Formats: sequence, C-alpha cells, structure tokens
Amino acid sequence: METQNSARLFETAKQLFPGGVNSPVRAFQAVGGHPVFIEKGKGSRIWDADGNEFIDYCGSFGPLILGHAREEVVEAITKAAQNGTSYGAPTRLENELGSLILNNHRFVDRIRFVSSGTEATMSGIRLARGATKRNKIVKFEGCYHGHADALLVSAGSGLVTLGTSSSAGVPEAYTQETIVLPLNDKAALELAFEKYGDDIACIIVEPIPANNGLLLQHREYLLFLREICTKYGALLFFDEVISGFRVGFEGAAGLYDIEPDIMAFGKIIGGGLPVGAYAAKGDLMSHIAPEGSVYQAGTLAGNPAAMAAGIAQLKVCLEPGFYENLQQMTKAFALRLNKFSTDRNYPFELVTIGSIFWISFAKGEHIQSANQINGDMSVFAKLHHELLERGIYIGPSGYEVGFFSSAHSEADMEQTITAFEQALDAIFS
Ligand SMILES: Cc1ncc(COP(=O)(O)O)c(C=O)c1O
Repeated sequence: METQNSARLFETAKQLFPGGVNSPVRAFQAVGGHPVFIEKGKGSRIWDADGNEFIDYCGSFGPLILGHAREEVVEAITKAAQNGTSYGAPTRLENELGSLILNNHRFVDRIRFVSSGTEATMSGIRLARGATKRNKIVKFEGCYHGHADALLVSAGSGLVTLGTSSSAGVPEAYTQETIVLPLNDKAALELAFEKYGDDIACIIVEPIPANNGLLLQHREYLLFLREICTKYGALLFFDEVISGFRVGFEGAAGLYDIEPDIMAFGKIIGGGLPVGAYAAKGDLMSHIAPEGSVYQAGTLAGNPAAMAAGIAQLKVCLEPGFYENLQQMTKAFALRLNKFSTDRNYPFELVTIGSIFWISFAKGEHIQSANQINGDMSVFAKLHHELLERGIYIGPSGYEVGFFSSAHSEADMEQTITAFEQALDAIFS
C-alpha cells in the first residue's frame, strides 16, 4: 500500500499539532506507523491522500450511522449554510431537531443542545449537582465520558476511596469529588452510598460501555443503579453519546427499558457535525439558565448547519426497520467470523450489540474494565495493519469499537469477512 502522501502530511501535521493530531487516538500510537490522511468519504467507503480505498468501520467514532456524505444530510447542510452558518439567535431548526428527539424518546421531555459530547456530560453533571445540591459523583472504571476535569479521574487505591487524576492538569482537589468504582460490582456501590450517600449527586454511566472494549452490562445491574439512586435521592445519568440513536432511537435506555434522570447525547444527533445535548424531564431541566441557576451556554450551540444535519440523519433513523436491518447485518458478520475463529481455534471474538462491534482476543464474558482481560494490544496492532493492507479501516486502537452503517452492503460485508479471515490466518496460523 502506498502511503507517501499521508506520511508527508503527517510530518507537516507534527509541526502544527501535538502528536500531529487534534485528538489523541487518531495518532496511530497504539498500532504503530502513521495515520492515513483522509481525502473523502462516500457511503461505506473512504479514500486517503494516496488514493487508497477502504471500507470504513470507524465511522468517525460513531456519528455516521448513514455512512459518509449521505445525500439528504449533505443537502440539508448545504441548504442551511446558504442561509448563513450562525446567528447567535434561535432558529426553527433547533425546534425541529429538539421536537424530533423528544417526540420519539420516552424518557426525556426537554433538551439543551451543546457542541460536543464532553460539553454534554460536563453540563449534565453540573445540572445534577445544582439540582441535588450535592457535590460527589460516581463513575466507573472502563467508562469514558469526555475530557472534563471531574471525569478524567481514575480509581483510588482502596475499594471505595476518592479518585485520583488521570491527566496532568487536573487538580487532585477536583478529583476528590469523583468516586470511581468497578463496573458490575454491587457491593462496591452499596459501600460508596453507605459512606457518601447524602453527598452523591449522580451516578454517571455508559449503559453500554463502549470505550474500553464493549463491556456489556446485565440489565439487572443497570436496574440496580436505578434503584440505589432512587433510594439515596441521587440522579441516574446515562451517557448515551455512543449508544443513543445507535442501538435504537431510544438508545440503551429504550433497549433495557430503564428510565434515567439525565441523559447525554452526541455523535449521531449531529449527522457528522459538532453537536452534543443533555436532556431530562422538564422539572429537572428548569434548573438550567436562564430558567434556573445552573449556568451553561454556548456561542455555537444549536448551530443551524449542525441542526439541519441532525434532522436529516435522524429522520432516516426513524424509518421502519432501520435499526433491525443494521443489527441483522452486524450479527451476521459476527456469527461468520466467530465461527471461523472457533473452527481454527484462534483467540479472536467479535462482541456486538446493535450495530456496534468490538474485537476481543479473549473469549468469555466482557463486563469489567477491558484492561484486565485484554491487556496485550500487540495482536490488535498486527490485525489493524493487516486489515488496512486489505482495504478495511477500523479505529486505530483495540479499545475502540467499530460501527456498521446503513451504507454498508452485503458485498461490503463479504469483502470485509474475507479480509478478516486472511488477516487472522496471517497472524495466527
Ligand atoms: C460515551 C462518551 N461520552 C462522551 C464522549 C465525549 O464526546 P466528544 O468527543 O464529542 O467530546 C465520548 C466520545 O467518544 C463518548 O464515547
């Protein structure tokens, strides 16, 4: 595979940006080599600066549920942009996207648009703290919620100790308000609430943890989160930045039929443009400024081009059978490759939910932090390279998940299965 142009672009980028990128995982540090620089995408495919073509399963890390440059989305963005790209004043497009989401989601009836998933979780936590007048939050090892200070926190040394900063620049004092617990450990949670229950504002969780592998939780555990929050007067905060509108229009909350108090959205609702949102039931949302005293604002929040892209994308998602078809293809893909690897006794398994898949090199139940079950990522690095050579693009880290979009065809799937089989043979046989 020719990569001179990407290599040259990366050399320039390194002079301009830390690590040559504007978001760390893009740097290919986990898989070695340099990133491929993308020139364009259409449907299920992307092309890089050297003219290589790939079937894309990164999908911009989740937003592109319709694939690249879907006609309706491009038209909507173009039409909006022709009328101006930002006003700092409300537009009917915000009403339209807001209604589209709220009218089709049982668990929220008011929403606030922001510009990223990080802003959504950060603001949702402020809302939880403001509404409950409590300070502490509980989060889980293996869940990622963006890069706000309160959330860049790792578990402390004891079972229920306060967190420690997981990034330079986050004062330890901030992390003292975050309790980090293992997933799927009821006893740890009970202990935390016994100790700090009257000061815990919320539990924040990815109900489908998809940032440290795919750590599928049992519904019963998620229900337990609901119950313990209710018991102690804390709020349950589902971060559905990945799972929202991905595993169904109502995301994980709908899939598991569990009602959180606050939800964060992002990715899919912006149709590939920068959008996030947090939403809750009306009483809670009335704490937000200017109605209430919890301050949160944004110059580009509710940006018209981004709203238009989101509306166009979500309308397609609402078509009958949309999610069923995506899930069917993802399931078929996983079944075929899992049979292949089982027949050959390769330590490889695709874990899936909806149209999300994760490549695991350890069979069994994946429920707690993947670091413990999948520490050696050198095999992933090899697989990533073998797949790139065969025209398949997946996110450049073994902890990231892959996504099917409605643009992926049966033929794409067949081509991808063949590429995976050859790549696995090259690595394991
Ligand atoms: C579950 C989850 N929450 C929040 C975020 C942060 O979103 P953003 O990268 O748009 O700030 C991400 C990003 O991947 C995410 O996966």
